[in-house]
Order: sequence, then C-alpha cells, then structure tokens
Amino acid sequence: MASGRRTAPRKIDFFVGLGLGFVMSAALAAHAQTADRAWLSYARHTAHTLYPRHVRALGSNAIEQSAVQELRHNLGDVLTEGLSARAEGGLGGQTIVGTAEEVRKAFPGVPVPADLKPEGYWIYGAPCADRVNGCGEHNLLIIAGSDARGALYGAFALIRVASTIDPGAPHEAMPRQEHPAMPIRWVDEWDNANGTIERGYGGPSIFFEDGHVRDDLSQVSAYARLLASVGINGCNVNNVNGAAPFLEPEMIKGLARIADAMRPWGVRLALSVDIASPQKIGGLKTFDPLDPQVKAWWAAKVNDIYAAIPDLAGFTVKADSEGQPGPASYGRSPADAANVLANALAPQGGVVLYRAFVYNNHLDYSDLKADRARAAYDIFHPLDGKFASNVIVQIKYGPIDFQAEEPVSPLFAGLRKTNEAMEVQITQEYLGQQRHLVYLAPLWKEKLDFDLRAENRSTPVKEIIEGKSFGRLLGGMIGVSCVGRDWLGAPLAMANLYAFGRLAWNPDLSAEQIAAEWTRQTISNDPQVVATVDRMLMQSWPAYVDYTGFLGTQTLTDITGSHYGPNIESSERNGWGQWHRDDAKGIGMDRTVATGTGFVGQYPPEIARMYEPVATNPDNLLLFFHHVPWTYKLHSGKTVIQYVYDSHYKGAQEAAELGAEWATLEGKIDPALFADESARLKYQACHAIVWRDAIVQYFLKESGIADDKGRAGHFPGRMEAEDARLTGFKVFDVDPWEDASRGKAVTCGPVINPSEDSYWRRTHTLPTASPSTCTAQWTYSGPGGRFNIAVQYFDLQGGVAQFKLDVNGKPITSWAADTKLPSFWPNGDNSTRYTANDVFLKPGDVLSVEGTNNGSDPAAFDYIEIEPAG
Ligand code: GCU
Repeated sequence: MASGRRTAPRKIDFFVGLGLGFVMSAALAAHAQTADRAWLSYARHTAHTLYPRHVRALGSNAIEQSAVQELRHNLGDVLTEGLSARAEGGLGGQTIVGTAEEVRKAFPGVPVPADLKPEGYWIYGAPCADRVNGCGEHNLLIIAGSDARGALYGAFALIRVASTIDPGAPHEAMPRQEHPAMPIRWVDEWDNANGTIERGYGGPSIFFEDGHVRDDLSQVSAYARLLASVGINGCNVNNVNGAAPFLEPEMIKGLARIADAMRPWGVRLALSVDIASPQKIGGLKTFDPLDPQVKAWWAAKVNDIYAAIPDLAGFTVKADSEGQPGPASYGRSPADAANVLANALAPQGGVVLYRAFVYNNHLDYSDLKADRARAAYDIFHPLDGKFASNVIVQIKYGPIDFQAEEPVSPLFAGLRKTNEAMEVQITQEYLGQQRHLVYLAPLWKEKLDFDLRAENRSTPVKEIIEGKSFGRLLGGMIGVSCVGRDWLGAPLAMANLYAFGRLAWNPDLSAEQIAAEWTRQTISNDPQVVATVDRMLMQSWPAYVDYTGFLGTQTLTDITGSHYGPNIESSERNGWGQWHRDDAKGIGMDRTVATGTGFVGQYPPEIARMYEPVATNPDNLLLFFHHVPWTYKLHSGKTVIQYVYDSHYKGAQEAAELGAEWATLEGKIDPALFADESARLKYQACHAIVWRDAIVQYFLKESGIADDKGRAGHFPGRMEAEDARLTGFKVFDVDPWEDASRGKAVTCGPVINPSEDSYWRRTHTLPTASPSTCTAQWTYSGPGGRFNIAVQYFDLQGGVAQFKLDVNGKPITSWAADTKLPSFWPNGDNSTRYTANDVFLKPGDVLSVEGTNNGSDPAAFDYIEIEPAG
C-alpha cells in the first residue's frame, strides 16, 4: 500500500437523478508489476462505482459470467464509509448483464437501442421498479451488449470510468453506448514452443515451455482478462517465424487448452502458420499453394483445428520474408497463398492476416535505386482486389520496421479493394526494449491520424483500417506484444499494452487521455501524480528520438545484433536495406522520384508533393526521403550536423529529467514501484549518455565539422581509463568504436569483438579467465570540493565482475556488475555506469578503480567522470 493518506470519500453524481453515485479518495495505492496484476488491481483502488451490489447475468455463457465476476470483484473492496444516503441507496438494487436480446426479453420496458453494433454495449440506469418491470424496489442498472462480448466490454467500461474519474474535474459523462471502431483487435505474441519469445523482454512464455503448451495456464487467463478490459478480442500466440510445428496434432490439443483459457474473456485464439507446412509436417512434396493436394491438406488441417478449437479467429502469415518460405518459390503471389488459407477458413468464420512485411534482405547497397521501403507497395499494390473477402493485409505502420521515426506506409492508400490492418509493436524492439521508458501512444496516434489524401480526399489511416475510407467490412489493429511471465518486464511499459487496446477500440482517443486513464487505474488518482506521470509518458518518445536517431535516419541500433545499443555502421553496406548512407559530405536516403529510388511516388499525389521537394519535406523525416549535405539548413535555420549535436545533448538532458520528475513522487505512490522505476530511469539517463556520446563522436569524426557550442569531443570532467596508470588492466579497441569514449577502454580479462574472425564467431562460447584484480589510477588535478564520481563500465553476461572506487587508498564504494544487458562483448548494449555521490576531492588526490573479473565478465571499463555534487 502507498503511504498516501485517505481523504474523506467524495461523492460524484454519475447518473444524475438515477440515485447512483461514486466514492473517491484522493490517494490510490499502487503496486510494482507482478505477473498477475496490472491496471486491474482493484484492491488498491479507492474509487469505485456504486452500481447496485447485486450483480447477475441473464445468460449462462462464460463471457457474461466473466462480466459478473469482474463487477463483483471490483465491488469487493468498495468503501462505503461516509456515503450519502442517496449514494448508499444506489448500492441497493440490481446490476444486470446480458445481451440486448436477453434484456429485451427479461425487461420488456427497457428501451434497448435497436442499433447496437457488434461487440457494442449500452448502459442503462433506472431508479426503481415503478417504471420498469422486474427491478424490485431498488435501482436497476443494465449493461446490454449487442452480444456477450459487448456486455463484457460494457462491464469493463463501467469499472474504468469509475476508477479514472478526475476528482478535480466536473462530472464525467458515462459512455452509455459504444462500439469498437474496428473488428480486428488482436495482439500477436512471438512465442516459440521452447518457451523463448522473439523480441520479448518480460521473461519466458506464458503459453509454452519445452516444446509444448504449459500445464499451468492461469497466467493466460489473467492475460485474457487484461486484454478484454481494453477490448482486445484476439491473440495470436506463436511466433511468425518457424511456425510449422504448431500444426502438429499434439500441439493442437495444447492450443485448444489455451483457447479454453482465453474464451471466457472473449479473446479468440489465432495462429501463425508456415506456408510450407504441407511439406514440412504434412509429408507432401510441395507447398505450392495452387497444387490441389496442398489445398486439400490445408482444408483438412483447418477442419482438424476447428474440431479442437471451434472459435479459432484465424491465421497470421509471414511468407517470403526474412528466410520464411513463401509462394514466391513457385512463382505464386501472396494473394494465391492467402486465398488458399482463406478458402479453408471461410466456412468456419476464420480470417487470414497476411503480413505485408515482405522484402528482399539481400539488397545491393551499391545500387542507389535499391530500396527496402518500396517492397510492400511494389508487391501488394498490384494484387489489390485479388484477395478473398476474409483476408486482411497486415501492414506495419511504416515502410521499414517499427522505427522510432518513419513515415506512414504508403500501402495503406495503395489498397482500396482489400481489407487492411495496421501492425504496431507494443514490445519495444527498436525503442529501448522496456529498459527505457518510451510511451508509444503518441507515435501510434501520429500514424493513425495521418491523412494519406487518397483520391484527393480525407483518408486518415485510422479510417482506412476501420474500413470506412474504402468501404471494407474488415480491418483493424494488431499489436505485437510479446508478453512474458513478467508481462512486459517493466511496470510503466504496461501503459503501451493498455494504449494499444484503447486505440484499437477508439483511435480518436488522445494519447494524453489514455495516459491519464492508465495512470489513474495503475498508479494513483492523485492529481499531482497523474500530471507528473502523464507528462513523463508524453515526453518519453520525443526524448528517445532525440538521444538516439535524428531527422528520420531510421534506427542506429545494432541492426545485425541486439537492436538495442548504438552501432551506426551496422545499418550500412549490407543487404538489410536499413541504410542511411552517410559519408564525409552528407547523409540520408534519396527516395525522391526525380533522382532517388522513387519511393515518394508510392504516396497519393498530395502527399508525394509534400515529400518530393526537399524544401517542403518535414524536418523529422528529412533523411528518410533525401540525401543532404551536413551543412544543409533545416526549416529552423540550423544545419543538419548542428541538429545532430543539439538534439543528442537535449535528449540526454530530457532522459535525466524523466528521473527528476519521478523523484517528486516519493511518498505519494507505492514505495516498491517508486524504487523500481527510479532505478530504471537512472539507468535510462545513463544509457542516453552512451547514445549521445556515440552519435556525437561518430558524426563529428565523419563530418569533420565542429559543434558550434563546443561540446562534441570535449568532456571536461572525464578521465579516460586508457590514460590511467594501469596495473593488470589492458587497453583494447571497443567495437563499434563509437560505443566507448574515444573508442578505447580497458579490461581485466579476455574480451571478444564481433568481427568476422572473432572468438565468438568461431567458437560460440565465451572466453573466461581465472579471477584477477586490476587497478587503474589517476591523479586528480582539478579544484577542491565535493563531487559525484561516475564510473562507466561494461556489464557483461556470464559472470559478475566486482568494482571498487578508492581515493588515496580509502574505499569510497564498491559494486557488482550484475545487471543483465544484451551482447557478449563490451559495447553500447552493455555500457552502463555507477555513480558515487558527494565525494570530497582536492588536487593531488589519487583516484583508483579496481576491477575483478568473474566468469566471462572481464571487468572492462571506459572512463570515470567527475561532476560537481548537488
Ligand atoms: C523484425 C524483427 C524480427 C521479426 C520481424 C517480423 O525484423 O527484428 O524479429 O521476425 O520484424 O516482423 O516478422
């Protein structure tokens, strides 16, 4: 529980005149994330709907029972102390959950709207029996769903509104009648049968282990409950890569248990399928989608699956992409492949989500016309109108791959006779992997709201995927979630899962509104806490963009490795096509029609006219569309290179501010959550410095142009490890060089690097050495005073190195390098820092860092930095 006070409950009239009310308290307790709880932890809420206590369902189906269970659960901890008589009265009576049809039958006097849309709900309150048949003496509250799922969503909406009321704001309006904006609202999990999760950062799979479905699926039910609370109705449980084994009979039995666990929450199971399954597990000689035997195989397999899982939502397909087999092997198109599956699924009501993430990852870097961004449109646009009606083409929001900054995919406007869904990534693969706080709703909103101006009219992406723009019946949003047993692995990252569901339900909601809703339910309803957390969430994506990439370069993470720390050259000179083409003269991909790859021409004319001329191209995407000299002037008048310096210094500062803002919440929120997030934000601030320094020193060297503010290449308080008097430590070149200050560091044990002939590539084992202790010493020559001393070191896996900091032989502090960070050699993935605060120094003092290697952690470090304390 939080140490916060409980103030007198405050009543808010909700259904004015209906005798129902709320009770609130200013302080809510919060909780650090645990596997079973996220934003639905009612026991810690002190805001509750005083809907009538007697809750019952009209139907007997499991989904309505879940709604009842949820409402009762929410009521369980209601505070009644201090309630007005009127509000007390509101607790009497009944809360009824049912489908519209059931409600009409049971309460003929209740005016259930005739126009309830699929999965929609209507909430109705009446004061007493005299007007309505059957409500007894007390109040009646009815949650009528157009179907059972709608009723469940109505129950969650009622709870959400109750727990998110702003105590300072005027009465909130209840969404009496709502329906989801789009029918497909799925999360995709990239879980493997062995229990690992591709791009998952929250622990092992909740679904699978050791090649089969887990015995204990209680966390799957808990997940389905979370998903249902924000209106998500599908969950594709297995990785899009290597999916063939999931169609084996034994696995299908297990998958049926997963479907059973999710069904009471209205979440349907979906499966990734490997298009080569007929050959890989079916024993056929071919997987040519147009081969009659292959078609028959799919039809039979689909029947087997539906026999076990009668409400399977459908299949997701990744084909002809990143090594996955596909129809191209037989000269067939994605439509040929999708339609075979679609025809097999149609009689059962299943759909095919065919991913447009299809591209050649062996592009020729020397070909200035080659462009991965073009691929989805080039391949799918000609197929418009050729897909079966139960196929939805699933398009990543940008033309590359879940980048922190990239334009909207032009394919959204390129398909008019095809159902479309937008794929976003909840797991933060390229955006800090949950070690960094990055709230993604603003990024997704930017894409959803982007008006592609197809046919020279308003066609925002959200209306395209809702099916509105081109009159499609199907469409939706897919969020690649990759939750594990610790959900997303970081408490504040859960705001992204929440936001995904809310936006798929209603893409018109604002990112701020969603942030506030989440914070109120999860952390606290105290206005100051809400304002602070929301500000932090809203600042986090721009901050991440500032300290990592710039001006639409796409990711500068290590794209052939972790996708986490900086590795600028990893994007260049290979077939992956995530190029930024930088050299001494300039940077950027020329994607114009006039002189470049022609990608700009894939957009509708009004948009192409904005991106084609460099002068009208927005600065934040300049380098995605244009190659410009370092001295090119942005709309702000600043040169590109100066922007690189300024934005990275600004970004590191912004990251530090996130921690400072969080610090103001001490004592106001759950102490465990406070401590946990404080540590995370401290790490983020230091990793933002690693990023800043890598980008700044790399492009300073590349461009040869000085920072007009004099910062780049100058670190006044920094003392390099390689300049120290070393005993035992050896100097080595860090790879990539920009990940260490001046490219060099020292190590007390063997280190490897990722180059072709490295130890790692040859042996796939890590070098170890028997423990030894090494020392680096400097004589301090600055002014006397109190300082914070930061030690920047590389925290490697496979061992826990120990470090010590001494001044004049007197121990100041010691610590263990025990954080789990990516990569097996010292680089920007694992460069981190430990800071000793408030150390007195005078000229002539001898500072010394002692490192003891352990296992394959060699106790490598980069520098120490001395900054005035305070
Ligand atoms: C990214 C990601 C892969 C994933 C792929 C996809 O490239 O790094 O792990 O398989 O996207 O979306 O299929």
